[in-house]
Amino acid sequence: MPNSQFSSDLLPQHIAIIMDGNGRWAKKQGKPRLYGHRMAVKSVRDTISTASRLGIKVVTLFAFSSENWKRPEEEVSLLMDLFITVLTREVKKLHKNNLKLRVIGDKTRFNKALQQKIFDAEALTENNSGMVINVAANYGGRWDITEAVKYVATQVASGELIPENITEDKISQHLSMSDLPDVDLMIRTSGECRISNFMLWQMAYAELYFTELFWPEFNEQALLDAITWFINRERRFGCTSEQLQSLMKEK
Ligand code: IPE
Ligand code: IPE
Ligand code: MG
Repeated sequence: MPNSQFSSDLLPQHIAIIMDGNGRWAKKQGKPRLYGHRMAVKSVRDTISTASRLGIKVVTLFAFSSENWKRPEEEVSLLMDLFITVLTREVKKLHKNNLKLRVIGDKTRFNKALQQKIFDAEALTENNSGMVINVAANYGGRWDITEAVKYVATQVASGELIPENITEDKISQHLSMSDLPDVDLMIRTSGECRISNFMLWQMAYAELYFTELFWPEFNEQALLDAITWFINRERRFGCTSEQLQSLMKEK
């Protein structure tokens, strides 16, 4: 797929994806839920390669939410094993392709082996200049905001900051991905139309795209469809359509 398919200034800089529907997809074909999680890896690979070829700057993938610990112990443990296997298997390829991998979320709840794998993968790819891939694992939007607020509260407690000087910027500086652009396009598969505590702050002005496809069915064409839909949205950021049009004329 040539890069010229979309003009680069129209592309979303940051795409976030709630990769949902693995379990239902597997069940539909009489297979255990884990089969769906395993097959999901191919969709992740397709998404990463298509997005980086198009010149997308950041892709954030929701892999495991802070609420997913409530699932049956067996499923949680199989998901953790899969996470380790995929990290081990894929990280060299990502590095070779100059991609930067980061894991966002509360990593302290993972076992030591997984924490080490994450640390190694992040260290190996941290100086790469290509697309950033954030894997959100044990991540929750409320957790993220709470951590930032805790940080700001310690600055207030130490006298470094007065409450009157707390601004949106001061809070966002301490969120995950504070060095990256906000989300432009959020995609959720499987027909569910909710945010499920994903990036609440960073998605404040994201365009929300919902598709009926289950995540293991998501492929290059599905991503291109979502991006085409995004390009046809008018992002007004509080302005009127007329204001935007006169701004465009001035350009
Ligand atoms: C998304 O698929 C993957 C994770 C949350 C880990 P699900 O496992 O939620 O699949 P459904 O929604 O039950 O079909
Ligand atoms: C959201 O999916 C989290 C991930 C995709 C990792 P869920 O399937 O857990 O979301 P809910 O519980 O149906 O909202
Ligand atoms: Mg689900």
